[in-house]
Amino acid sequence: MPVTVIVGAQWGDEGKGKITDMLASEADVVARFQGGDNAGHTVVYGGWTLKLHQVPSGVLHDGALCVLGGGMVINPRTLLRELDDLQEKGALRARLLISGRAHLIMPYHVLLDGASESRLGAAMIGTTRRGIGPAYQDKAARTGLRAYDMTLAPADFAAKVRRAVEDKNVFLERVYGLEPLDPDAIAQEFAGYAERLRGFVADDSLAINRAIERGERVLLEGAQGPLLDIDHGTYPYVTSSSTVTGGALAVLGIGARQVSRVLGVAKAYQTRVGEGPFPTEQLGEAGNRLRGTGQNLWDEFGTTTGRPRRCGWLDLVAVSYSARVCGLTELVLTKFDILSGFETIKVCTAYSLDGQLLDSFVPQAESLAKVTPVYTEMPGWTEPLGEARRFEDLPVRAQDYVRLIEQRTGLPVSVISVGPEREQTIIR
Ligand code: GDP
Ligand code: IMO
Ligand code: MG
Repeated sequence: MPVTVIVGAQWGDEGKGKITDMLASEADVVARFQGGDNAGHTVVYGGWTLKLHQVPSGVLHDGALCVLGGGMVINPRTLLRELDDLQEKGALRARLLISGRAHLIMPYHVLLDGASESRLGAAMIGTTRRGIGPAYQDKAARTGLRAYDMTLAPADFAAKVRRAVEDKNVFLERVYGLEPLDPDAIAQEFAGYAERLRGFVADDSLAINRAIERGERVLLEGAQGPLLDIDHGTYPYVTSSSTVTGGALAVLGIGARQVSRVLGVAKAYQTRVGEGPFPTEQLGEAGNRLRGTGQNLWDEFGTTTGRPRRCGWLDLVAVSYSARVCGLTELVLTKFDILSGFETIKVCTAYSLDGQLLDSFVPQAESLAKVTPVYTEMPGWTEPLGEARRFEDLPVRAQDYVRLIEQRTGLPVSVISVGPEREQTIIR
């Protein structure tokens, strides 16, 4: 069974990019399956620090096929910028395939995302304002443009773009009181993008299933995390796509029996960007220490928007929920090095709500906002972990922390990351 799925186990930014890059050395195909340039995946290797938004994190691997899969929403403007940047750095090693079924993020989607957030005011979702939600809205409404449209005769694609802009101008002007966009200018701009991208557009489902038939190894790279999933997340404070394992199989058209491993990447603590409930959030000193100062690349500031991430203690109720809805077979623990130096470390192992003890996650946002975390406290350690390469290299208290996670989630922690570099990893 040649398919390995990598998903987050929290609210995104768990270090999926690092882990995907690491495992990609043993993969033939690396496919992103959902989201768009709301994602920011960091790969640090050999002097490179890549902040990938739409290109899969297998990009550094010669000969690998990197797929921008059919459930994605692709912004051609930012994708080409990303590709040019990678090319300039000499970091574009893999081959690329863009699913014809992926939807295009258009300039009006970006405007509508911002306008909707502004209109919501205090009730805003705190989106990345990249046009993600409006693009998925068009997909569901069957009014979207797809990557396949870029392969049409140029005049036909231009006509589709013009028509779409004219339709959306009605919303921009009449609902939000914004300036209309110029249909001809956007049609011309997108003709240029189509010219450059059409050669990559193909049937991703066919390519991946053929690879599976040939016995090749396929890695699926999730964006965001299950707690931001459109169905299983803390709705409405979620993203607009299916971030879970089942979603990956649905949008790529892969059979469930092909999957052998499902890795859930979890940070050693918890973070969230944007609005929405976060039971273990620490607004005081602990939160600030976990966030860092913004001086290091691993400090908790958004890879895509630069926003400070909200930080708090590890929530094993939430991680166990992610394990359930994604069918995780193992956990990958990241950013373990950040916990060094805390006198006491807290881990949330249950919630209390209206006097009742709960051991399972509360997916309704209003109720989740009311839970009180029940913590297990553990003594911390002072030793830095960045040089550890075997489990036995970790201080005993750090080993105990890993064992607690395994015991509470019922899953093995098969990989432990102790720094952003590829080699700063313990494989058990
Ligand atoms: P992703 O969206 O899940 O790919 O994660 P991001 O790239 O947005 O955020 C993870 C950040 O943590 C990046 O800056 C990584 O370079 C960094 N990182 C990943 N693993 C580790 C680790 O084990 N220790 C430290 N200190 N940083 C890490
Ligand atoms: P990666 O793949 C963390 C959050 C936004 C907001 C909500 C909806 O790097 O883990 P959207 O723009 O998707 O409509 O915003 O989802 N969000 C992320 N948070 N990591 C991400 O991606 C995210 N992508 C979206 O902050 O709360
Ligand atoms: Mg990220």
